Amino acid sequence: MEMNIYEVMRTRRSIRAYRPDPIPEEVLNRVLEAVRIAPSGSNRQPWRFILVKDGELRRRLAAACGDQAFIAEAPVVVVACGYDINYNRGGYMGRMSMLVDVSIAFTHLILAARAEGLGTCWIGAFNNDEVKKLLKIPEDVDVVAVTPLGYPRDKGFAEPGPRKALNEIVSIDTFQQG
Ligand SMILES: Cc1cc2nc3c(=O)[nH]c(=O)nc-3n(C[C@H](O)[C@H](O)[C@H](O)COP(=O)(O)O)c2cc1C
Repeated sequence: MEMNIYEVMRTRRSIRAYRPDPIPEEVLNRVLEAVRIAPSGSNRQPWRFILVKDGELRRRLAAACGDQAFIAEAPVVVVACGYDINYNRGGYMGRMSMLVDVSIAFTHLILAARAEGLGTCWIGAFNNDEVKKLLKIPEDVDVVAVTPLGYPRDKGFAEPGPRKALNEIVSIDTFQQG
């Protein structure tokens, strides 16, 4: 039974303990399809996703992510990469536009994974140079995000943790400090 999107968003949590159980191929394919159809500026899709499955590589990858060992527990670690294709037309965003595009696709991955009962944890604390070397990522490509992908080991999904109140983050017509 498919989950409602609001339920998916509400119950997604960063999962930091995984079971080693493999992910069935059709489940992984549905998650990857959600990534594939993500929007991007001018539809340029400046991304590449590496599924790291090899155990030794996963351990070395976890080491290159500030020694966050739980990352290697999951049967798959996804490394999202972006090309600096310099297509931004507005000027201001510059090469940051690649970060926006890859982050959108990565959010698709994280939410689709939750809908499939799979845990993720967005990892921003990685060493770009070390990960690039380890996974043979070309010079003109950078790592944007990493996540373990697998079934949660213990409590897993739950209601959101503490967040700012709506009136602290939304204002009408002009910027107003909450
Ligand atoms: C850009 C970004 C980078 C993050 N980097 C890490 C990380 O390196 N390690 C980690 O354990 N969690 C990381 N997180 C997870 C956040 O700590 C987490 O999303 C936040 O505390 C809210 O908790 P929740 O995801 O369970 O709702 C990161 C999240 C984001 C969005």
